[in-house]
Amino acid sequence: MNNLHILNHPLIQNKLTLMRNKRTSNHDFRLLLAELTALMVYEITRNYPLKEVETETPLEWTQGKVLAIDIVLVSILRAGTGMLHSVLNLIPQAKVGHIGIYREPDSLMPIKYYAKLPVELAQARIIVIDPMLATGRSAIAAIDLVKEAGGKALQFLCLIASPAGIERFTTTHRDVPIYTAAIDRELDSHGYIVPGLGDVGDRIFGT
Ligand code: URA
Repeated sequence: MNNLHILNHPLIQNKLTLMRNKRTSNHDFRLLLAELTALMVYEITRNYPLKEVETETPLEWTQGKVLAIDIVLVSILRAGTGMLHSVLNLIPQAKVGHIGIYREPDSLMPIKYYAKLPVELAQARIIVIDPMLATGRSAIAAIDLVKEAGGKALQFLCLIASPAGIERFTTTHRDVPIYTAAIDRELDSHGYIVPGLGDVGDRIFGT
């Protein structure tokens, strides 16, 4: 599948395994999530365009390079919050949108309860973040919203994806590449990815 990228860097895989461990504390889980996100963002932005600018060092003027595009991050609440600040540390000029979606526990259907997106989306590179691509329904609903608001160049970044989620997502949003650190076996009857990480929101926030 052309639009599915598994980020196999050894540091990424090492940190993901530490996160899987149920004995990892909430504190360590948050730190690992932030570190892993930074490593993944480093990988997925490697082809972003640059433009030349003049800059003055303490010794003389020279040509430097800066990002030539606007970047927008869209965090799917609540687990996306655990990734957001790590991306913002690397790309502080990025604008941020939030989309609140939860899964109705019986039907597993996505219920949207909040959306606030930056105004200028049409020209921006947009990274949508959510640690788990499980059923794929929340991610699809979030991307529907971003596209309806004018977003065109999107990337979806997660830690673990399920085969069913990938299938559903790529069928609906063929143009949006998925970047993940792993594809796990399946979904359980509650829509959790197994073996997975458990409930990422609970592990970030200790709920
Ligand atoms: N959300 C989670 O937090 N974990 C899963 O396994 C699936 C969705």
